[in-house]
Amino acid sequence: MERQIQQLRESAAKLIGAATDLKELDNVRVKILGKKGELTGLLRGMSQLSAEERPKIGKIVNEARAQIEQLIADKNSELKAQDLQNKLASEKIDVTLPGRKIHCGHLHPLTLTLNRVKEIFINMGYSVEEGPEVETDYFNFEALNLPKDHPAREMQDSFYITEEILLRTQTSPVQARTMQKNPPNTPIRMIAPGRVYRRDDYDASHAPMFTQVEGLVVDKGITFADLKGTLDFFCKQFFGENAQIRMRPSFFPFTEPSTEVDVSCPICHGKSADCKVCHGSGWLEILGAGEVHPDVLKMSGYNPEIVSGFAFGMGVERICMIKYAIDDLRMFFENDVRFLSQF
Ligand code: DAH
Repeated sequence: MERQIQQLRESAAKLIGAATDLKELDNVRVKILGKKGELTGLLRGMSQLSAEERPKIGKIVNEARAQIEQLIADKNSELKAQDLQNKLASEKIDVTLPGRKIHCGHLHPLTLTLNRVKEIFINMGYSVEEGPEVETDYFNFEALNLPKDHPAREMQDSFYITEEILLRTQTSPVQARTMQKNPPNTPIRMIAPGRVYRRDDYDASHAPMFTQVEGLVVDKGITFADLKGTLDFFCKQFFGENAQIRMRPSFFPFTEPSTEVDVSCPICHGKSADCKVCHGSGWLEILGAGEVHPDVLKMSGYNPEIVSGFAFGMGVERICMIKYAIDDLRMFFENDVRFLSQF
């Protein structure tokens, strides 16, 4: 009997030592100390012992039980400590890590530019007009003093849909539309932003679709000086206080006299021979303009003896490229987020 107890002690110690988690340890406990356990089984066998042996063996069994219980308790706290350690390691949070950035979209650079242009003109009391992108030959050309066989039509290679309908090549048709919407000689101060289409190549400075802002002011006594002052003010607002404008004589069928307007380079201010934007010239063309041709007023029901006006048409991609030193027009249309996210 003593030997059996000794063996049980040894095998219990081994099993307890080998347990790798609390559940396994509990199984060992039940197997040895439980109601049907091995040690309990030995105790039952004691009834067959003699009266002298009983207390002696009883003592040994109790000692063994106490020892095994101690081993289990020790192992139990060891496993619990280990459990806690594992938990701490696996659930560790580094509170000093920076948070994850939430990527947020924003307006396209062309939209931002258009919004700014609108803001500047609205502050000067202009209204914002719209016209259709699918336009009639009449509004796109004829009402602007470009009859059917006019050679200047070739300046703008057009996408025709039928003989009489095309994708507008400029925002200028909105001039005629706005005048015709009004009773004759009603004063007008409007801009008309929008997309225009031309059969152009697609390269760093051309695209078959781009954006313009048209401007038209008609009233009694409007002069070329008003045009100059307005454009000068606009450029200072848009490009910065130091911006200057330069007017060169030009030709457009719907204005007389006509001019092309340059802005001083806002990047190098004309001071760098190898400027990426102006290439050393110091000036950048941004728009066409002029005094509204009397025939254009007449065709839309206005009387050039009573009112006069000025008009301009500017490239929105162009002023955006100049302002932000963008060297490829295609960037606006290719939606590369590395580009777009810089605005
Ligand atoms: N429509 C012209 C173009 O697209 C630009 C232009 C020039 C508009 C003179 C005007 C203007 O209103 O007066 O090339």
